[in-house]
Amino acid sequence: AQITFTDHDGGERTVEAREGQTVMEVAIANDVPGIEAECGGGCSCATCHVYVDEAWSEVVGGPTPMEEDMLDFAFDVRPSSRLSCQIKITSALDGLKVTTPQRQG
Ligand code: FES
Repeated sequence: AQITFTDHDGGERTVEAREGQTVMEVAIANDVPGIEAECGGGCSCATCHVYVDEAWSEVVGGPTPMEEDMLDFAFDVRPSSRLSCQIKITSALDGLKVTTPQRQG
């Protein structure tokens, strides 16, 4: 599956993702800027915050209650906000677009 990350300046990079990886793992593996992921994917740091592209919001779905609590600690949270370590790649997410926030935390 391919995932496109856009940074807050509009810089775009499209990277290859394997099913079963999380969006956060894909970002870290490809040195995508703007994702820190301090807790390593445990849904306990909120530094892997991304905005899901509008066209993908339904396929990706909303945050779990635990994730929502963690998002309270993220910077500039919007309705499209998710923690990227909580989004698992499936074939349905091929072409997914997410944007990274101006800063984490
Ligand atoms: Fe820490 Fe996602 S990596 S909440």
